Amino acid sequence: MVDVTRVHEILERHGARRERMIAILLDCQEEYYHLPREVLEAVSAGVQVPLTSVISIATFFKAFSLKPIGRYPIRVCNGTACNIRGGPLLVEALERELNIRKGETTQDNLFGLDTLNCVGCCGLAPVITVGEDVHGKVKIGSVPRLVKQYRSKVQAEPGEEKNAQNVN
Ligand code: FES
Repeated sequence: MVDVTRVHEILERHGARRERMIAILLDCQEEYYHLPREVLEAVSAGVQVPLTSVISIATFFKAFSLKPIGRYPIRVCNGTACNIRGGPLLVEALERELNIRKGETTQDNLFGLDTLNCVGCCGLAPVITVGEDVHGKVKIGSVPRLVKQYRSKVQAEPGEEKNAQNVN
């Protein structure tokens, strides 16, 4: 069960105004790293808009995800240049390192793994993105270090780690 206390705080911050719906959902996404049903229900009740309308908005915009994507969603570029230069092998290396399959999220909700279409920097192939960060010319051997780098970020903020684990 998801604790929606933070949703109520977010609603309060935005005055629970329906015209602030997208901003409210963005803040919720940032807080929970995705928009679980309980959060959508709390937003629906808070702004007094039918749940189906809130779900429509949440599924329309790419910025929102209804399934867990992790605090650091990792995406391996699936474009031609990256495929030729080892993108699929990077997916396998990340699956091994994170102990999940493509399309899944780690149990602690820190990392999600998936592929994405060409991100437009083919000269840096193979490319992966971690949240907003873009990493180019990624070598299989550097995958453990890369993952560790993001784990360390969270360990530096213990409150954030606790938060990440609470959402599932
Ligand atoms: S194919 Fe990967 S960045 Fe273009």
